[in-house]
Amino acid sequence: MIPRITIKGISKRFAAPVLRSVQLNLGAGKIHGLVGENGAGKSTLINIISGLLPADEGSLQINGLPFTPKTRRHALDAGIALASQELSLIENLSVAENVFLAHLPQTVLTIDTEMTHLKTRELLQALGTENIYPQTTIASLSLAQKQQVELAKALSMAEANCQLLIMDEPTSALTEFQAARLHDILKKLAGNGLSILYVSHRLEDVLNVCDEVSVLREGAIQLTAQSGSLSSEGLIKLISGDELFETLIDSRSDKGPLRLSVKEFSSDIFPEPISLECYRAEILGIAGLAGSGRSELLHSMFGLAEILTGTVNFYNDGRSIEIRSVEDAVAHGFALVPEDRKSQGIFRTKSIAMNITAAGLSRLGSVFSAVLPKREIAVSEELIDRLKVKCEGPLQQIDSLSGGNQQKVMLARWMEHDASIWLLDEPTRGVDVAAKLAIHNQLRELRDKGAAMIIVSNELEELTALCDRILVLSKNRHVATFERGEWNKESLLKAAFSGYLGKIND
Ligand SMILES: Nc1ncnc2c1ncn2[C@@H]1O[C@H](COP(=O)(O)OP(=O)(O)OP(=O)(O)O)[C@@H](O)[C@H]1O
Ligand SMILES: [Mg+2]
Repeated sequence: MIPRITIKGISKRFAAPVLRSVQLNLGAGKIHGLVGENGAGKSTLINIISGLLPADEGSLQINGLPFTPKTRRHALDAGIALASQELSLIENLSVAENVFLAHLPQTVLTIDTEMTHLKTRELLQALGTENIYPQTTIASLSLAQKQQVELAKALSMAEANCQLLIMDEPTSALTEFQAARLHDILKKLAGNGLSILYVSHRLEDVLNVCDEVSVLREGAIQLTAQSGSLSSEGLIKLISGDELFETLIDSRSDKGPLRLSVKEFSSDIFPEPISLECYRAEILGIAGLAGSGRSELLHSMFGLAEILTGTVNFYNDGRSIEIRSVEDAVAHGFALVPEDRKSQGIFRTKSIAMNITAAGLSRLGSVFSAVLPKREIAVSEELIDRLKVKCEGPLQQIDSLSGGNQQKVMLARWMEHDASIWLLDEPTRGVDVAAKLAIHNQLRELRDKGAAMIIVSNELEELTALCDRILVLSKNRHVATFERGEWNKESLLKAAFSGYLGKIND
């Protein structure tokens, strides 16, 4: 049978070769997984298929006919739908405009607003989103909501003459529940004959949702196999080339004295008072579904919320200091690492080293000078090494790194701080398995040196691996706290859903 998409000998180089004669066939009605470490070339291949980048060599076919996309529009007209890793939304347009206008045929002169709003609402509902309205402006949405809109946009293209739907890291900002909704939709679409290319670092998801999986390493496809014949351990070996990467350090230091205490805190977002404590040398996890208030709770501890009742206190040598503002939080060594690191302070056209050391440099007034002090270069080199950033060196421009590697650089900027309290939102979003372990080890090391850490993550495995205690939010209420050894995935999920099942009176 003729494959839906044939990729023949595609090569591409930037400073160094990225793709070396990639061969791949994507069948009609199949979900094909593509995995590989950060910087392996997955997005580059996708950009070539979807008309965003020209290949240096090789050819593409759709249903056996040659296809050389020159522009995104050209590929779109040929039936290539794409949900981008780096989200392709226009911030000052509405949700519905983003979902529909960009890809409506250019011959349409009048837009049926009612139709686009209705369809947008349908798509978002199918994805399990609440509280996103078609007329809302993109700029006011959270990262997870933006990702849902990006998915709705791609799904809205997955109709009519669509041949291939490409999903590049579609669930990196989503909870497991939201990811499951997407996977159901994808399976249905494939059942109707659509071809889907699915890229993700969540290997369990890849094995569950895909019919077959290909591994990209050193610029070439190392293996294509039915997912039933693969395990995630086997995939990890293929992705890393059997290289031994860091194993988990499970050093555990006993928690120290009280460091942070939130007492009877309530706000517009949290109608019921929340109390929590975090100790020195302790990692406290916050679990919950999307929209359950996880990020907002972190922000509140950083002095960013309008407090209705209660207090946030920092303890130093037994002395209690009330945190009333961001200035207070910063003065006492709080570091808030936001989920959407890239839109918050990335210097796109500057080097990795400048981006890592930006906070210190801005004090020196040298962010925009061409010469970097030696110390900044040395610090950057060490962090590049520790967080496994795949790059040519600290002076490479951050824009030219793969998505996951840019994430690591933005995290490295924070790791350079000497914080007393870490508030981390999704610290390993978009990074590959090896780098994730390296980041976990780095966080444990900081904890063991006495930091108090509070971590929000969509991945229950991540919380389970890292945390000493896990607090669960459900519908903006604190519904449970588990000590290590007391939780399992089921109990965490049960608690996370409890607020939505009518067990708690509204
Ligand atoms: N515009 C560019 N200029 C120079 N190098 C680039 C450019 N775009 C990508 N690269 C390089 O190509 C390589 C592959 O990047 P790509 O984005 O395809 O990786 P990826 O597999 O999608 O990784 P991730 O999992 O982090 O998203 C990287 O080493 C990256 O630095
Ligand atoms: Mg990528």
